[in-house]
Amino acid sequence: MSDDDRLAEQIAYYRARAPEYDTVYAERADLREVLNVVDEVPITGDVLELACGTGQWTPALAARARSLTALDSAPETLAIARSRPGVEDVEFVRADVFGWRPQRRYDTVFFGFWISHVPPSRMAGFWEVVGAALAPGGRAVFVDEGPAEAYREGLEKEIRHVRDGTRYEIVKLFHDPRALTADLATLGWEADVRERGTFIVGTARPAAAPG
Ligand SMILES: C[S@@+](CC[C@H](N)C(=O)[O-])C[C@H]1O[C@@H](n2cnc3c(N)ncnc32)[C@H](O)[C@@H]1O
Repeated sequence: MSDDDRLAEQIAYYRARAPEYDTVYAERADLREVLNVVDEVPITGDVLELACGTGQWTPALAARARSLTALDSAPETLAIARSRPGVEDVEFVRADVFGWRPQRRYDTVFFGFWISHVPPSRMAGFWEVVGAALAPGGRAVFVDEGPAEAYREGLEKEIRHVRDGTRYEIVKLFHDPRALTADLATLGWEADVRERGTFIVGTARPAAAPG
């Protein structure tokens, strides 16, 4: 399957899974706990949340942001995110991040459990979007599953099923913090990526121009 096809299937998978998505947070205490990362990372000023999903992070980001724009490709997850308390002032945007261009700049670009869904062929393009969205001095902040999580998911990491049994092929890459830091350096980013339990937490800013 081509990356284009897999990315389209990934969008379809999360649309179909929207009503089931939050059960994983209900079932896994470690996922609920990692939401506390927002207290440990620099979420400041005008914030853009990419791939906001059902809004697990959105109210906490909104509470820390001057303004928050939250983007996702799935109208079904956006509807759930919109229904949460604490997001009344959030601007929700439905868009495919790979074809989207920011109309303004932000102090923080946050993405939770998203970088693992970006195929290597789209990393440069994705980080160009992040760079175009950041104001001078701004930072990207991200959280995801780390290499330890690969064992939880077994070998078929890119095949997912929703409850009715429909099968989807998606992208799922468990980034090693050091390798991801090095990859981001080649794309022109100064990144700090650390393991936090079985998760990874990263901050990144555009590298200073030489000289
Ligand atoms: C693993 S979920 C993460 C949701 C949320 N950030 C969280 O941590 O619970 C991935 C999200 O990415 C969204 N998504 C998938 N492909 C996308 C794309 N091309 N552009 C924007 N969002 C996309 C899905 O709809 C889904 O809500």
